[in-house]
Amino acid sequence: MNTVEFPEYAGTRCLMMPYVQGDPDSVPSEYAAYRDIVSSVFLRRGDIGFLTIDESPVVAGKPHRGARARHARALHTEAGILRGVYGWGGSPQPGWGSPAPAPRPSWGGRHTVTLDRDVRILIASSVDESCAVWDAEHEDTSEDGDIGHVADLYPYSAVTVLKAGELCELGILTPHESLPVKRDVNRQFLRIVGAGVHGREDYFTVNPLCPIP
Ligand SMILES: [Fe+2]
Repeated sequence: MNTVEFPEYAGTRCLMMPYVQGDPDSVPSEYAAYRDIVSSVFLRRGDIGFLTIDESPVVAGKPHRGARARHARALHTEAGILRGVYGWGGSPQPGWGSPAPAPRPSWGGRHTVTLDRDVRILIASSVDESCAVWDAEHEDTSEDGDIGHVADLYPYSAVTVLKAGELCELGILTPHESLPVKRDVNRQFLRIVGAGVHGREDYFTVNPLCPIP
């Protein structure tokens, strides 16, 4: 594992913005404060990546990135899996977004965005002990990745809790949790999703310097 040094907090945000990993010139100037991080933090230099920067306030006792959570803990896998929908390899296809209507009634719906099984992800945040990662793969995840209903499987006694700036590499089915913060804080969250994401959702930040291939 490695560490990142976050720039000064400025309320910067982009969500799943495509760019070229390792190439700061592929990221618009409003993210200039992240140039050093973009240059030095990547899964594979030169590959398409998807950058999320979320600098926003968090209230004490709440998780920063818990919008999806339907249970007490914001425990999730990055991708969801639709039951009964199979990819080319014959195994369920991970993805995001509401299932699109099936082309035929007998077929299952499809995620708006699909992810290759081997997509890797880097995450880091500016706040100590605000993210927990379990050394596991949770194949039986939900359609949107929320797995708060099986939180008993992932006790805090067997977890890695990230320090401020600590980089962690995940798979798309690695259980992890945005932890409640201990005090009101302006948190900086960084995520780089590697190549192998197909399609886009409306909330993805458009990057005029790097249109989605
Ligand atoms: Fe996550």
